[in-house]
Amino acid sequence: MDARAEQGQAPVAVETPAEAGLRLDVAGPVATITLDRPDKRNAMTFAMWRALARIGETLPGSVRVVVVRGAGKAFSAGIDLGMFSGGGGPSGEHPQDDDRFIAELQAGYTWLRRPEVVTVAAVHGYAIGAGFQLALACDLRVMTDDAWYCMKEPALGLVPDLTGTKPLVEIVGLNRAMDICLTARKVPAAEAERLGLAERVVPAAELDTAVDELVSALLAVNADAAVATKRLLQQAPGNTLEEQCAAERREQLQRLRSMRQG
Ligand code: CAA
Repeated sequence: MDARAEQGQAPVAVETPAEAGLRLDVAGPVATITLDRPDKRNAMTFAMWRALARIGETLPGSVRVVVVRGAGKAFSAGIDLGMFSGGGGPSGEHPQDDDRFIAELQAGYTWLRRPEVVTVAAVHGYAIGAGFQLALACDLRVMTDDAWYCMKEPALGLVPDLTGTKPLVEIVGLNRAMDICLTARKVPAAEAERLGLAERVVPAAELDTAVDELVSALLAVNADAAVATKRLLQQAPGNTLEEQCAAERREQLQRLRSMRQG
């Protein structure tokens, strides 16, 4: 039974990616998710976040790299502000002060950390609020040199709640995260690169080529080793040196065993 139904709540209909303003293209080991509401600068709705979660649940096991990008002029202008004024976005819903409701939206972001895939955000124009958090949910960010981030939520009386605060603090440190969030200022690409919020910064005309080159490099590495290494690296911040050394040994022994068998 659906978890919501178990709790006596009405099940939420999950739109197809297209209905939710997303495009999913799978080409062999590469999946490209395009935020596809260019007229609204890819403003994001509850339906879009749930469709993202569904893409994560149903992604073919053969996919190794996921690229997230925006159609049109920018990556994303963040949450669809129409939802605050009762417009409700495509699904006609309204924000609810319900823990489970927000957790379901966060699920659209959390799966991008899965060790089985490497996720790449291709950011052009701007990534605001929920859009910035989506870029932060990805493992790697390629940004155009005229693009910028903005964590707008506190300016709107809200907090960033789409899984962005943890990666932001881990990448830039607590003090810089406070500067970025509590002033809700623009972070231009050059600063983003300096702070580690972009692994590559390229001229706008070269974004596609830069992303293609990165994807090719990621695919050139042994698939199983990539999964094991991502898993290992993800544990490092929470582990003591001793624990991390033990984790390295475990993963390596597993690798060596598989290589002997394969
Ligand atoms: N929601 C809904 N519609 C939006 C939008 C948004 N977040 N951002 C832009 N649009 C719409 C505009 O209303 C406009 O629509 P119409 O043509 O129908 O009038 C269209 O997109 C184009 O907008 P602009 O002409 O403004 O385009 P631009 O490229 O010059 O955009 C901008 C500049 C800085 C993005 C500006 O549109 C803007 O400030 N948008 C709002 C950004 C914002 O505050 N987002 C929310 C952040 S907080 C968050 O995401 C998380 C959370 O939980 C609160």
